[in-house]
Amino acid sequence: MKNLFIVDHPLIKHKLTIMRNKNTGPKEFRELLREITFLLAYEATRNIETIEVEIETPLEKTKGYAIEDKKIVVVPILRAGLGMVDSILELLPNASVGHIGIYRDPLTLKPVQYYCKLPDLSNSTVTFLLDPMLATGFSAVHAIRILKEKGAKQIVFVSLIAAPEGVLEVEKNFPDVKIYTASLDRQLNDHGYILPGLGDAGDRLYRTK
Ligand code: URA
Repeated sequence: MKNLFIVDHPLIKHKLTIMRNKNTGPKEFRELLREITFLLAYEATRNIETIEVEIETPLEKTKGYAIEDKKIVVVPILRAGLGMVDSILELLPNASVGHIGIYRDPLTLKPVQYYCKLPDLSNSTVTFLLDPMLATGFSAVHAIRILKEKGAKQIVFVSLIAAPEGVLEVEKNFPDVKIYTASLDRQLNDHGYILPGLGDAGDRLYRTK
C-alpha cells in the first residue's frame, strides 16, 4: 500500500470516533465530515504546484507564491462525496467541481453510473476525487477511469475511511493515484461495508434510514 497516506492526528482521531458512534446524529456527522476533510485536505494538497508571483507589501515589492486553483478540479462521487466538497472549496475557492454519480448494485457490489458532469480536464493540474468510504474500490476505480479518459493527469483520492480491499483495488488498477485517508479499517463484510466503519455514510449524512 505504498500510495496510501494515513493522516494521523489527534484531532482527526477524536472527530472520527464521534462519527463512528451510531448515536451521532446527522447535523454533527455533517459538521465532523467537513472538519476532517479540511484537515485531510491540508495534507492531500501538500504537493500541489505553486508559482512565483510579485506583489507589493505596504513597504516594498517582494516575491510570493500562489496556487493556480483555477486549474484544480474537485470531483465528489455522489452522494456521500458531497459532504466533503465545501470544505475543500474553502481552501481552493476557485477550483472547478465535477460530479460523478455512482451507486453499488447491492447484489454484485459492482458500480452503476447514473450521472457524470465534469469540467474540462485537459488543462487541469490535479483532480481531487472525494468519497468518504473507500470500500471495495470498484466505484473509485470506475471514477478514476472516467477522469483519466477525460484527460485528468494527477489524481488524488481523498477518503475518510479506507478498507484494505479498496486500497489494493485502486493500487492494482492505478498505481499512480495517491490515496489520503483518516483511517485504514480492518476489512469489508459480506455486503461490502467497512468494519468497524461508520455504517452508510450517505444515509448518515442525509438521514435516509
Ligand atoms: N459505503 C458506505 O457508506 N459505508 C461502507 O461501509 C461502505 C461503503
